[in-house]
Amino acid sequence: EKAGYKHFMAKEIAEQPVVLGDALRHYLTLDGVNLPPELDFSSIERLTLVACGTAFYACSVAKYWFETLAGIPCEIDVASEFRYREPPMPIQSYALFVSQSGETADTLAALRYCAGKVAKTVAVVNVPSSSIAREADLALPILAGVEVGVASTKAFTCQLLALAVMALKAGRDRGHLTKVQFDGHLDTLRAMPGLMNAALTTADDIAKLAEQLAEAQDILFLGRGPMYPLALEGALKLKEISYIHAEGYASGELKHGPIALIDRTVPVIVMAPHDKLFDKTVSNMQEVMARHGKVLLVTDGKGVASAAEGTWAHLRMPEVAEPFAPLLYALPAQLLAYYTAIAKGTDVDQPRNLAKSVTVE
Ligand code: M6R
Repeated sequence: EKAGYKHFMAKEIAEQPVVLGDALRHYLTLDGVNLPPELDFSSIERLTLVACGTAFYACSVAKYWFETLAGIPCEIDVASEFRYREPPMPIQSYALFVSQSGETADTLAALRYCAGKVAKTVAVVNVPSSSIAREADLALPILAGVEVGVASTKAFTCQLLALAVMALKAGRDRGHLTKVQFDGHLDTLRAMPGLMNAALTTADDIAKLAEQLAEAQDILFLGRGPMYPLALEGALKLKEISYIHAEGYASGELKHGPIALIDRTVPVIVMAPHDKLFDKTVSNMQEVMARHGKVLLVTDGKGVASAAEGTWAHLRMPEVAEPFAPLLYALPAQLLAYYTAIAKGTDVDQPRNLAKSVTVE
C-alpha cells in the first residue's frame, strides 16, 4: 500500500499534487466555486474556527484569508482551550471545526458547545462518516483520501484548500472581492498542483540539508503573515517525527526573546515568499545572521536573487500569487521534517507517544 515508498508519510507528501487536483475538481467549477448555497456569508458577523494540532494551524492560516479576502472578523482557538472558556457566541456567526479524523475528542466537544448557539456549525473533515461530520449542521469533505502517517501532511494542504475556497466564496458573498479579483484567486488555486510538483523536486536538496539539521538540538522556524502559522506547522512536524526541539515564531517576535537562543548551532528556517512582507522578514533574518545563526531561506526566485547571499542555504520554490503561498510552502516544511527524521533513524510513520486519532481528552 505504500506504492513503492519507504513510508506512508513519503507517499502522502508526494501525492499532494494529485489529491489537491481532485479536491480542486470538486470545489471549483468553470466560473466559480461548488459550495452548498446555504453556506451564505453575506450577513455573518463573525467566524470561529476551532481545531487541534495541524488542523489548528490550517485554521490559523485561514484566519488571514477570511479577514483579508472577505473582511470577516475571525477568531481561532485550539479546541482544548475553547471548550472550557465558555466563549460567548453571536447567533449571526458560523463556527467551523476542522479535523482530519473527525473524531478528535476536544474538537467534538467544542462543536457540541456551539450547537444551537450559532447560525451554523460547519465540519471540515477528511472522514465523512465521522462523529464531527455527523453532528455538524453542514459537513464539507477535504477529499485528501486515507491518511495513514501520524504526521498529517496531505490532510493539511487539503484543509487549506477547502478553507481557501470558503474564504473566496465569503469574499464574493460580502462584496469584498470583485469578480476579477475572485477569478484571479481561483486561477492561483488551479495552478497549485503544478507548483507543488515543482516544489517536490527540491526533495534531494532537502535530504542533503537534513543530514546537518539532524545534528541540531534546537531549530527555529520563522514566518510572517500567513506564513507565520506555517512556521508553527513546520516546527510541529519536525518535533513530532525527528524529536528535535523546534519552535515556530512570528518573525517580528524574534527580538522580543527568542533571538537570545541564536548561535552557530541553531538552524533558523525562514519561510518567506517574495511578498509584501518580504523585506521585513529579511531584516529579521539578517539579525539572525549577525549572530551567526545558520539560516535556511525558503523563498522564490526573486527572494533568492535579493536575499540568499550570506545564508547557510536556500531552497527555491516556484512563484505563487498572494495569499496562497502556505499551500505550497507546506511541502518543503514536510520534507524537511521527513528527511531530518530519516537522517536520525526515527520511526517516521509511528512516532513515539503519538496516536493518529486523539479520542481521549
Ligand atoms: O484528526 P484531527 O485533524 O482532529 O487531529 C488533530 C491533531 O491531533 C493532528 O493534526 C496532530 O497534530 C497531527 N499528528 C499533526 O501532524
